[in-house]
Amino acid sequence: MKYLIGNWKAKLNWTEAQAWLTSWQELVMTSPLPADKQVILAPPAVFYAAMAAKKPSLALALQDISQFAGGAYTGEVTITNLVDLLPAYTIIGHSERRAHFGETNQLILQKAQNLWSAGITPIICLDTDQAAAMAQLLSTVDAPYLIAYEPLSAIGTGHNLSRVELESQLADWRQLFPTQPLIYGGSVTSDNVAEYVGVCDGLLVGGASTKVDEFWQIVQQF
Ligand code: PGA
Repeated sequence: MKYLIGNWKAKLNWTEAQAWLTSWQELVMTSPLPADKQVILAPPAVFYAAMAAKKPSLALALQDISQFAGGAYTGEVTITNLVDLLPAYTIIGHSERRAHFGETNQLILQKAQNLWSAGITPIICLDTDQAAAMAQLLSTVDAPYLIAYEPLSAIGTGHNLSRVELESQLADWRQLFPTQPLIYGGSVTSDNVAEYVGVCDGLLVGGASTKVDEFWQIVQQF
């Protein structure tokens, strides 16, 4: 399976989100996606329920989940809130969460445990210096997850990794995560997506996923 994951971050408003989805549906109708491509879109949580109600031709994910399972935690989005509205996947541990909200591997593991308890597959984001410690924390886990290798130098900078750099990094990561899908994220666009075909199991696309034609091109080419 090839995973194409769009992360809108805190970009786009509801009008833009709806227009994106309408265009996406038209594109899929014109040219159905092959069964070996799993497209996953992570909109801002506030759009999630309304987008899910439209039954789009892609899987929806959340960009994060609370470490609390539910209860008196004003402002949080928890597993309890999702019970009858479960996404198949949720991103956790994104470098922006680590940088701006002080998230650690330990906290991210707690979030993963909440997700597994609800049957949701975590997409766990890691940079090189976090990978070995996280692999250790996950070593006794027997539940599904995807690993997204997201080098800080490449996220939102336009400095995407080359094919050779990614190949050499993922050779090490394969030792740490022998059976999990390995996803690459960092400044992927339709101009550089060809670099990654056959090197990794999927792509996590930030900025370029907010433009529907651009994301479509990436999905087509990978
Ligand atoms: P970018 O973001 O594609 O805008 O670099 C990637 C990410 O944050 O996952």
